Amino acid sequence: MSVRDVVAIGDPVLRRRARELSLQGIASPQIQRLIDDLIDTKRAVHGAGLAANQLGEALRVAVVEVEEGNPRYPYKPPVPLTVMINPTIEPLGDEMVEINESCLSVADLRGNLQRHLAIRVRYLDRLGRERDELKRGLTAGTFQHEVDHLDGILFVDRADPRTFATWEQFDRHQREEFVRRVAELES
Ligand code: NI
Repeated sequence: MSVRDVVAIGDPVLRRRARELSLQGIASPQIQRLIDDLIDTKRAVHGAGLAANQLGEALRVAVVEVEEGNPRYPYKPPVPLTVMINPTIEPLGDEMVEINESCLSVADLRGNLQRHLAIRVRYLDRLGRERDELKRGLTAGTFQHEVDHLDGILFVDRADPRTFATWEQFDRHQREEFVRRVAELES
């Protein structure tokens, strides 16, 4: 088990387009170790997801997982551990939804941005098997956030800067309305 430091905004690795992995690359001990480190680090800091750029490696690997009762995001619906390699996202329909996001690479900041309400995500799992899944609501937002990382995009690029808030100020002024609004997405 290896919990690694998460790279902070300002490091150029977060702005690089991560490169695709071959099946041979996926099977290599180095990449399998990177995947384990992504999972261990994500769990240690209670993230909803983590991309390889955030561990300083510009490779197209990201993990998503929301445990029941995640202390950082108690309002997010649970998502089983998903390891995605070379993921691609296709929006399903035109409908957008405003989501409040944050990022482990951007300390103490939250902001509102538009995400596709429903998406199709295709990727390879850690055994190199093809996966094809549909996601919706906050979960779709989380997948879009992680795939953005692999393209060198951070949530602050897409957010309305006028909605930026620290976690404390979000809790005080925005949280109640946001949680009420997103609860309707899941039903
Ligand atoms: Ni992030």
